[in-house]
Amino acid sequence: MSIKSKSILLILLLAGFSLLLVYGWGPVLQGQNEEDLTELPEVETDEGLAELIYQRRSIRNFTDEPLTQEDVAHLLWSGEGITVDGVSGPTRSSPSAGATDPLEVYLVAGEVSGLPAGVYRYDPVDHDLELKQEGDYRAQITDAALGQAALREAPMVVIIAAELARTTASYGVRGERYVYIEAGHAGQNINLMAHKRGLGTVLIGAFDDQEVQNVLSSEPAEPLLLIPVGHAG
Ligand SMILES: Cc1cc2nc3c(=O)[nH]c(=O)nc-3n(C[C@H](O)[C@H](O)[C@H](O)COP(=O)(O)O)c2cc1C
Repeated sequence: MSIKSKSILLILLLAGFSLLLVYGWGPVLQGQNEEDLTELPEVETDEGLAELIYQRRSIRNFTDEPLTQEDVAHLLWSGEGITVDGVSGPTRSSPSAGATDPLEVYLVAGEVSGLPAGVYRYDPVDHDLELKQEGDYRAQITDAALGQAALREAPMVVIIAAELARTTASYGVRGERYVYIEAGHAGQNINLMAHKRGLGTVLIGAFDDQEVQNVLSSEPAEPLLLIPVGHAG
């Protein structure tokens, strides 16, 4: 190759590299053309649901200010509460594949005004709490979750658990996927409701299943998510 050809090749390479620096790899890799792109309207994030979604972020430090029974009621209801009448009976606050409703929601109460410390099961139909274990189980839950301090600091922890068989009975192995998706929906509802009430949350998935199951005692539901809730510290 002549020196002239080499120089032209070098210039072309440098020009190509400069274009990549300016416009990034994205359009090149995805083969995007300007004329294929449609700009979307701005999202107004200063009110309503859009504001809640925009403002939500994980909170892992909490003050020791107790929560109220109003907080408990709103948070548990937003996870798995009864809402309007649907096709196959009362609908829940989050969607469920075939309305099989596999989720069970538990409360590990530490500092909730007027509510003795304990592990409770939320009954969505009657919208009440059934005491399962008496005492403060936050330290045990923290140990079960690799010592994550958010669980010890928070006045309460919501546990989203599930009886997978309720859904796999209709959908086979694929039903497992549906249950995990549903747990995510319930978790985000709780996140947003907490934020709406001026509280903070984080979803915690890193824990020892058996150790959390021990806190739930003989309950048949498997724990899927731990959600400490409190006033941001
Ligand atoms: C399924 C799942 C499991 C998670 N597990 C943990 C966890 O064990 N510990 C933790 O501190 N955060 C956990 N998170 C929170 C993520 O770290 C957090 O959402 C992520 O860093 C993004 O930050 P943001 O929530 O503020 O947007 C989990 C989130 C999800 C969705």
